[in-house]
Amino acid sequence: MKNKTYHIITIGCQMNKSDSERIANYLENTGYTFTDKESQADLVVLTTCGIRQSAEDRIYGLIPKIKKNNPKTKIILTGCLSERPDVKKRVTEQVDIWMNIKELPKLKSRLLGLDNDSVQRDCDYLKEKPKYDSKVSAFVPIGNGCDNFCSYCVVPFARGREVYREANEIIQEAKDLISSGYKEITLIAQNVNSYHEIDSNIDFPDLLKMVNDLAGDFWLRFSTSHPKDMSDKLIDTMAKCEKLCEHLHLPAQAGDNDILKAMNRKYTIEDYRILIKKVRAKMPNIAITTDIIVGYPGETEAQFQNTVKLFEDIKYDMAYVAQYSPRPNTAAAKLDDNVSRDDKRSREKELMSIIEKTSLENSQKYLNKIYPVLIEKKNKKGDWVGKAKSFKIVKIDNSEEFKDVEGEIVNVLIKKVQDLGLRGEIIEK
Ligand code: 5AD
Ligand code: SF4
Repeated sequence: MKNKTYHIITIGCQMNKSDSERIANYLENTGYTFTDKESQADLVVLTTCGIRQSAEDRIYGLIPKIKKNNPKTKIILTGCLSERPDVKKRVTEQVDIWMNIKELPKLKSRLLGLDNDSVQRDCDYLKEKPKYDSKVSAFVPIGNGCDNFCSYCVVPFARGREVYREANEIIQEAKDLISSGYKEITLIAQNVNSYHEIDSNIDFPDLLKMVNDLAGDFWLRFSTSHPKDMSDKLIDTMAKCEKLCEHLHLPAQAGDNDILKAMNRKYTIEDYRILIKKVRAKMPNIAITTDIIVGYPGETEAQFQNTVKLFEDIKYDMAYVAQYSPRPNTAAAKLDDNVSRDDKRSREKELMSIIEKTSLENSQKYLNKIYPVLIEKKNKKGDWVGKAKSFKIVKIDNSEEFKDVEGEIVNVLIKKVQDLGLRGEIIEK
């Protein structure tokens, strides 16, 4: 296979982005070269997301467009929609290969038409080397799948049960990244903190410490954590890991106990609040972010007000607030999606207005202080934009003085707090 081209479109989460990086490298080793023009590609890979209807709908828009512009192209559909019979039925004519990501190691034979029976159920595909999107920040997947079956969530159906990589393999990937100059490593999985190595006692805190202790100058992050797996051991370990960034993303999903129970989240809001207290006691400067779903079936205004209360008390730095969207196969799909669109919208707005306030308040502590910032890219105005350890976006005012700082960690004097981020000047490289 020579001189063939591929293009990848990724929708959704970090895990999908990471999967696409592995697919890209695999295809390049198979003889394909990347093209940024999907209309000229021999192969278009769609790494799909099914978490909300809106993400799914993008695929129904994209597929006919791709085939219309380029009827000869082959479409590979992977990601969350690859195992959905209803999706298969809807676009069966236009998709050439349906690939559960676990089948990646056999893609070559499928492209050659040699193998159509290739279902693998482990996470061996993570042994495939990635072609990282960035030269500075990398996602390192530590496993795949989810066992939690939150009532609204399609992930356990789409990705299957939890499987984890061997610690040695993860450490090797991190080591290679550090020696190639990467500055930021994010350990990812649907549920990172339930990591455990099969046939050993290594759990997530152990793994975190092992990566933290690798030689080199880099920042360490992880996501996403489930509150039920936030053990005291993990909180203690986080506090001891000097390379770990001062940020914890801990999805609450709701602030009301009856809704949490209906969601099958396995903790009460009191448990959650205690966790945040413990984390802040050990790491007073940590920024805390969350995911929330508004308008879960039957959520009353009074129940929603418990989420408002949670937001006012916790004072999050950021929240990803989603309007509930029924997903096929999930337990909640059997319930009446009876919170109106208007109510969902206004609940989302109410939470976001609290976030704007609390994020701004929390940011005041950075004002007139010097913080390291990882410079990522230039914005449309030509100013550098980076990220602080707290995950806050930092816009740089004196970009013209510092030309070659892309991908560097620089010291920035914070001069202004604004919206959900910060503004400042680079004082030294
Ligand atoms: N509707 C709306 N939001 C959802 N999420 C997961 N499933 C749904 C759904 N059916 C959100 C959760 C999760 C994030 C990745 O997406 O908040 O943490
Ligand atoms: Fe979905 Fe819950 Fe698993 Fe997260 S923990 S991926 S919300 S089922």
